[in-house]
Amino acid sequence: MNAIEKLKKKYRWIYHFQSALNLIEWDFETHMPRKAFEKRAEAIGTISTFVFQYLTSDELGGLINQAEKEARTDEDRAIVYFAKKDYEKQKRIPPKLLRKFSEETAKAQAIWQEAKEKSDFSIFSDQLEKVVEIVIEIAEKVGYEKNRYDALLDFYEPGMTTEKLKGIISPLRKFLVEAVDKISSVEKPEDIFKKYKFDMQKQKELSKKVLEIMGYDFGAGRVDVSAHPFTTTISHNDVRVTTRYDVHDLKNSFYSTVHEGGHALYEQGIPEEYRGLPIGDGASMAIHESQSRFWENIVARSLPFWKFFKSIIEEYFEVFKRHSAEEVWRASNIVERSLIRTEADEVTYNLHIMLRFDLEEALINRKIKVKDLPGLWNEKMKEYIGVIPPNDREGVLQDVHWAHGTFGYFPSYMLGNLYSAQIYYAMLKDLDFEKEIEIGNFDRILSWLREKVHKKARTREPDELIKEISGEELSEKYFIRYVREKYSDLFSVSLL
Ligand code: CO
Repeated sequence: MNAIEKLKKKYRWIYHFQSALNLIEWDFETHMPRKAFEKRAEAIGTISTFVFQYLTSDELGGLINQAEKEARTDEDRAIVYFAKKDYEKQKRIPPKLLRKFSEETAKAQAIWQEAKEKSDFSIFSDQLEKVVEIVIEIAEKVGYEKNRYDALLDFYEPGMTTEKLKGIISPLRKFLVEAVDKISSVEKPEDIFKKYKFDMQKQKELSKKVLEIMGYDFGAGRVDVSAHPFTTTISHNDVRVTTRYDVHDLKNSFYSTVHEGGHALYEQGIPEEYRGLPIGDGASMAIHESQSRFWENIVARSLPFWKFFKSIIEEYFEVFKRHSAEEVWRASNIVERSLIRTEADEVTYNLHIMLRFDLEEALINRKIKVKDLPGLWNEKMKEYIGVIPPNDREGVLQDVHWAHGTFGYFPSYMLGNLYSAQIYYAMLKDLDFEKEIEIGNFDRILSWLREKVHKKARTREPDELIKEISGEELSEKYFIRYVREKYSDLFSVSLL
């Protein structure tokens, strides 16, 4: 066996442990009895430490070096490139520091939970400060060229820098703030999705139906309920989604399902022979998010979608017969100056991210202090979105991310939105998107995504991937164009 084959074999071996870990983590979030929490957390800790130790072992390092000399095909070269990159990055973080990170973030999550329940940031402040200091230490160990925050961004969106991000944000923010002002000046459509009571069982059936229509393979997946919807890949042919149901809010569950369905289609489209290897994942967090956002917003919040889907949703909820496809379409695209990121519409969503990016970047570079976060948060909310949270729970304490220590992650959500729009305009050159959707033919859309995005998995960096797809680097202009075209139509306002 040559070194490349040996390397692949080792990755596939360690992937079995990773699979076991993914399965018990999925169970942790879905079916596990409440009292099992502590012991399960210990088991997860043991297995993930084992996986991490192997991924940073000298044995694996040696195999990667040998394989590098033998790589001849593009695929092998990509395997070695990402193997080496991941290995070196992980090696730079001392195990002791990583253990401290796990311990302090575990504590931080419990404290954050309490602080959020009591809506009091001061309970969380000291622990968050500890987490920030550890994250700064990690960034220093990992290294960066210009800005310490770049080291963190690179974990989630390789190649992205603070400077590039600021270049994207500045015109986008200006556009979005004005767009929200203009859209807010017209009358808000009636929210059909919240107007009636929607039976839970019927919602479950509807979730399955929409996933099926999108092309999700139920022979290789399943849908369950969890507090926060997510998608996880246990192994090849086992890609699971979760969602949640609320009888008073059909929009939330329906679009959560479609969103996770978009992630799941990406995962189901990753070639079997790549699984377990460094190339067997999505290209980046943001590219992953582009797939979920594409289905959620660009497909399922379009007029052609509702022209097609209205007769289907009527089979589950007759009340939809009282409304036209246009009315449902408008209701699915209500724009609001809202407090909570996860419930934000696609026009205000990126503004929520920009606020978090500003604060994170300033924290990591020690330009602001943790204790000043609530005040700064509220100031930025006023400036960007035009509302001030009445309390910490609906403000600075709403997201768990900082307790997790995942600084640098938030921008992925925004970049995902931008990628999805850029991918959409590339797709328009190849197929009649509106017509396909209106007749309920999602095959060609999915095949296009399979070909251009899914099958390529992580065989190249995200910046390279988007250039191949669209002929250009990532740019905010496509998302701006998308919002302009869609919302001018929706609300008869001019968004120039
Ligand atoms: Co997502």
